[in-house]
Parts: sequence; structure tokens; C-alpha cells
Amino acid sequence: MSSEQLVSLGATDLQIAPLGVGTWQWGDRQMWSYTKTHTEADARAAFQASLDSKIFFFDTAEAYGTGLSEKLLGAFIRESGQTCVVATKFMPLPWRAWRGTLRGALRASLSRLGLEKVQLYQMHWPFPPVPIEAWMDAMADAVRDGLVECVGVSNYSAEQTRRAHAALALRGVPLASNQVQYSLLERKIEKSGLMALCRELNVSIIAYSPIAKGMLTGKYTPENPPSGLRSRIYSRGYLERIQPLIKLLRNLGEKYDGKTPSQVALNWVICKGAIAIPGAKNARQAQENAGALGWQLTEDDVDVLDRMSDEVVS
Ligand SMILES: NC(=O)c1ccc[n+]([C@@H]2O[C@H](COP(=O)([O-])OP(=O)(O)OC[C@H]3O[C@@H](n4cnc5c(N)ncnc54)[C@H](OP(=O)(O)O)[C@@H]3O)[C@@H](O)[C@H]2O)c1
Repeated sequence: MSSEQLVSLGATDLQIAPLGVGTWQWGDRQMWSYTKTHTEADARAAFQASLDSKIFFFDTAEAYGTGLSEKLLGAFIRESGQTCVVATKFMPLPWRAWRGTLRGALRASLSRLGLEKVQLYQMHWPFPPVPIEAWMDAMADAVRDGLVECVGVSNYSAEQTRRAHAALALRGVPLASNQVQYSLLERKIEKSGLMALCRELNVSIIAYSPIAKGMLTGKYTPENPPSGLRSRIYSRGYLERIQPLIKLLRNLGEKYDGKTPSQVALNWVICKGAIAIPGAKNARQAQENAGALGWQLTEDDVDVLDRMSDEVVS
């Protein structure tokens, strides 16, 4: 990746490609059927394929596979000898009822990862009862103590983002990012004011589920719906409704040297100024997703996709 294709994470000095890899898939059985559809060897190959494509940004969480995702990612990084940009997350579970619990969880994450610090530490959800300001204070302490380079949040509304940003600013720490669901099939952040606020505050949007859990790849159809938990989220009727969008993704891809629907959908996310973190179960998926970089949809094509997404989603 040449330097002009890198983006800064918010107002921090951290520079990354606008596409990383989500690693919830590595270790999670409930949503992602780890060991049934893919194994440790597949995850390792996905990791290596990403490095081969010059993608070094990996998103994990203590909650993914109850720590297994962090363990696998740490092992793969060590085996590769590469320096990677690692983002992990703290889950404010109900019994973590005071700010001091963050430090213990962070140390446990670092131990599973086998790292002395992470580049990005994120609050996974804005759950009560601990106030946002108290969590941000604990985050700023972790930055001060060299355990964390940058601080992010996830699933925060505009108002919660503003509070987190203000609390960190009191400690001289920028809020680097807000990780939220964003794709052609989920554009609430454009309408809620969150995206505009993040632009105003220079907080990067990290887009999770950027290919709508596989629905934008085009491989799932009313005749071939997803199984497991995803079948409850995406009904046959829903898959029927989104087919015109899939067709458009395919047609547009032809114009750009045969890009696939996933690559076009991910490029759309990047064109909107967000950092996409598609999950990959194996090398083939990681390699295909990396092909969303190095080219750009025209503004007209972004508009056409916007209109079609409005039509099929509303
Ligand atoms: N902060 C949060 O609350 C939050 C929530 C959700 C996710 N995340 C993060 O965001 C990452 C990505 O989101 P996500 O996993 O929900 O959804 P996603 O990236 O939209 O979809 C990932 C799934 O799509 C399929 N897929 C991926 N690339 C493909 C390709 N090139 N061709 C065909 N199929 C492909 C795979 O599943 P199949 O092969 O089984 O179809 C894969 O597991 C996660 O790994 C996690 O790091 C964060």
C-alpha cells in the first residue's frame, strides 16, 4: 500500500489503509460456526493473505470466541514476525461496575495477544451503569501508562460520541474512532447525524459488517439463504428485496475490471470516508476483500448505489 492510500485514524498519528480485517470469525462458534465452516488453519491463511495484500490492521475483541480470537491473532502475529496494527475492545459487562475493571480486562487482552500494548482500545458498547466520562478517564490512564496508543468507542450514538470526545479532550487524548455498523444495507449513521458529527470532531468511522454479514457478496439468494443465526436476521423476503442492489453491484463491477460485488460494496464504504473491516474466514475471502483497495468508484457510481440502496432498504 503506497503512503498516499493510507488514512489517519482520527486526529492521531496512526496511519492505516482504509480497509482492515475483522476477526470475530476466528474462534466464534455461535454466529460464525468456527470449526464447522473454517478452522485455525483457515484463519491463519486469512491472516497471511491479508499481510500479502499489505493489510496490517486487525480488529478483535475480548468477547470474540471468549478470547480465542485475540489468542489466534496474537499467535499469527508472532509467527509472521510482522508489526501489525491491533484494535481490541473492552466489554462493559454489568458486573464491571467501576472504572478500575478496565485495567484488568486490558491486561488480560494484552496477555492473550502476547503484546505489550495495542494500537487501538475500544469500548465495545455504551452499556450502563458506569458513566462514559469514567470509562474515558480509565482509557486515558491506559494511554498515559503506554498500554494503549489510541482510544476508540463502538456503537456510540452522536450524543455519546460527543461526551466521550469531550471527556478525553480534558485529558489531552483525541477520540480516534467510533466503530459502528455501516454498509449499503445499513446507513442509519448517515441519517442520525453520527457521521456528520464524526466528521466535525475528526473521529474516524470504522465500519463493521461492511458487506452485511455476507449478504452483499451475492452468494446468498432467496434460493440459497444463510443458515444459523443469520437466517433469523436476513429472511428470504429480505434477500428477494435486495437482489436489484446485488445485480447493480455485479454490473458496476464489470466496469472496473471485473470487481466482485463484495469489492464494490467495500469500495463504496471507503468512498464514504469510513474504514471497512470485513470479516474473513479463509484466505480466499481475505484476498477478495483486499481487492477493494487500489481503485475508486466514481462519484456518479456512488450516487447510483446510494439511490438503489435507498430503494431496496426503505
Ligand atoms: N463493534 C461491534 O459491535 C461489532 C459488531 C459486529 C462486527 N464487528 C467487527 O466487524 C467485523 C466484520 O463484521 P461482520 O463479521 O459482522 O460482517 P461482514 O464483514 O459484513 O461479513 C463477514 C462474513 O461474510 C462472509 N464473507 C466475507 N468475505 C467474503 C467474500 N469475499 N466472499 C464471500 N463471503 C465472504 C463470511 O461469512 P460466510 O462465509 O459464512 O458467509 C464472513 O464471515 C467483525 O469480524 C468484527 O471484527 C464489530
